[in-house]
Amino acid sequence: MRVKIAPSILSADFGRLADEVRGIASADYVHVDVMDGHFVPNMTIGPLVIKAVKRATSLPLDVHLMIEDAERWVPAYAEAGADLIGVHVEACPHLHRTLQQIRDLGKRPCVVLNPATPPEAVEWVLGDVDQVLVMSVNPGFGGQKFIPSALDKIRQLRRMIDARGLAVDLEVDGGVKVDNIRAIAQAGADTFVAGSAIFGSRDYRATIASMCAALATAER
Ligand code: DX5
Ligand code: ZN
Repeated sequence: MRVKIAPSILSADFGRLADEVRGIASADYVHVDVMDGHFVPNMTIGPLVIKAVKRATSLPLDVHLMIEDAERWVPAYAEAGADLIGVHVEACPHLHRTLQQIRDLGKRPCVVLNPATPPEAVEWVLGDVDQVLVMSVNPGFGGQKFIPSALDKIRQLRRMIDARGLAVDLEVDGGVKVDNIRAIAQAGADTFVAGSAIFGSRDYRATIASMCAALATAER
């Protein structure tokens, strides 16, 4: 199984962001959390900061939009350097069109589900995305506890993806740690966002390596 680690810079030191991003060069993506203070009760960064992150790394940027009116903002994030663009099913009334818009801009579409959203909500767009992102915390903040019911949702989505023979990555975001990553992989996830577990550790590289070592023992 090819797995990917996507450290979330939400838990990084924003005063030294370029250095922080260089510190996770052994990962697969840089996960960037964009919050608007409406869809989620927190506000973070806009396209200008994404541009700066892009200059600091050669890793692809996995941009997680937790915003209302995503359709209006997708072009700005594409322009700023996003490689994957994730939009929430709960925030997109015209989800299929928004995913198509991301594809038309030459970027990789990802659809995101909140903890209370059933897997069936993305069933009819599975063929239109490169990645499905299962939230295992309620979005808005780093450092929250993994919600166990996410495991069942991951299992169901894995079955849905495999039954259709699709090459769609299954990412999980929220409360991912060295000690639970293996169980999450066994449920069927292949891409792992981790914020506080990596940026709260002393040695980012070593923490990423420990996650990969735990994943190497996972069976599915
Ligand atoms: C939460 C964000 C996450 C967050 C994860 O809304 O989408 O990406 O940074 O942080 P941890 O890994 O600390 O739960
Ligand atoms: Zn995120």
